[in-house]
Amino acid sequence: MRLALFPTLFSLWKSSSIYINQSVKIFVPRFWTLTEFACLDPPAQPDLPSIDTANALASAVNLNLHNVQGDILYVLNVYYESCVVQVFASSKNAAQFKSHLKSVIAPLVTSTADLLEVSSQPTTALNIAFSQTGLHALGISDSLNFGYLDGISNPAVQGFQSPLPGQAVVPTGQILLGENGDTAIRPAWAKDGSFLVFRQLKQLVPEFNKFLEQNPIRAPGLTLQEGSDLLGARMFGRWKSGAPVFLAPLFDNPALGANPQQNNDFTYALSGQTPGNLTDQSKCPFAAHLRKMRPRADLGLPESNTHHIVRGGIPYGPELNSQEIASQTTQLERGLAFVSYQSNITNGFQFLQKRWADNTQFVHAGVGFDPIIGAAEGASRVITGLDSTNVSRAITLTTGKFTLVTLVFSN
Ligand code: HEM
Repeated sequence: MRLALFPTLFSLWKSSSIYINQSVKIFVPRFWTLTEFACLDPPAQPDLPSIDTANALASAVNLNLHNVQGDILYVLNVYYESCVVQVFASSKNAAQFKSHLKSVIAPLVTSTADLLEVSSQPTTALNIAFSQTGLHALGISDSLNFGYLDGISNPAVQGFQSPLPGQAVVPTGQILLGENGDTAIRPAWAKDGSFLVFRQLKQLVPEFNKFLEQNPIRAPGLTLQEGSDLLGARMFGRWKSGAPVFLAPLFDNPALGANPQQNNDFTYALSGQTPGNLTDQSKCPFAAHLRKMRPRADLGLPESNTHHIVRGGIPYGPELNSQEIASQTTQLERGLAFVSYQSNITNGFQFLQKRWADNTQFVHAGVGFDPIIGAAEGASRVITGLDSTNVSRAITLTTGKFTLVTLVFSN
């Protein structure tokens, strides 16, 4: 069981900006619905441990679960969650704010231990993060980084979380500051914190659907609809159900997608292929979002643990309306509020985006961009490997008014 219900503290308020005091403002983005909160409990996602199990594992690796915010190790499985605390630049009173943070705000923060303790699990909860402006106002240097989070495949923390088959395992310090494996020496106050990346990513859903509809993969035995579904699955690396396209290369397999013992259990290596030198993309394109973001055996085994992040995504915006469906054109903004945690943003989020998603030569020359998040400053993006009937065929994604559309714009 994951948490069944996890409303935000801010569901209690109806305004979009909430003032804790004159120096702190809780900023609620416009897409959050304050009266409503829903928690998903999809079977595909790993279960949460009991507090006793978690405490035993945590003490084995010397981790204090009361000192780790609830959202970090078990990305809260909510549509509407979290908040961003902004330090008011106008107040400029760092000392006063820090003292307030310690005495008033810190006691309200929901820790990992609070969340896992079923008997006293909070009905409302608060985790906090600081914007770069806020950190500057507090006199904390720029070297602090920010990151993103989400879903089926997140790394397990070594010694604390038992990995499911295929799940990456990272040392505590890959995610938490000041723990084993962190790359820097941290001040005492930063211990067990993490760097948060938050991005609001617009998605052009009708255009994406139109693109799939117009470009079905014409594999033998597939209807046009199945060919379109296959193209989408090969862009992501997973089917809509979560089934990895590498294990289900032609059709979706919802039972596989829903099974956490199987849905992450693959390396992209086919029998006879050498990890670190994989050449086959018939089952999953090298450019697929999933494969770009975690190349598994493409870079050899065992996997390096340097470029893993804990990731979560919250959809925002309305459902498609009938006009958008009919015109296959976006009228209302929607997308993904993306969050990730890592102890080092340069090795985490930034590396994944710049060195892998945007790098047309990764993991091999000519692979092209990650079709979901790869960015080329508005220029068109060439991708190979998507068409399983001809993996060297290049497909170009362009933006807006052009015939092929880009799927995601990032702000
Ligand atoms: C609108 C933007 C995005 C969409 C729609 C999206 C969607 C997805 C989906 C559906 C999955 C598969 C589910 C899973 O394995 O957990 C996934 C996996 C993943 N995504 Fe994204 N994502 C987006 C942005 C990003 C960004 C910006 C990053 C980081 C730079 C990122 C990093 C990852 C990683 C690391 C994985 C897991 C790879 C693995 O473990 O095999 N995603 N994403």
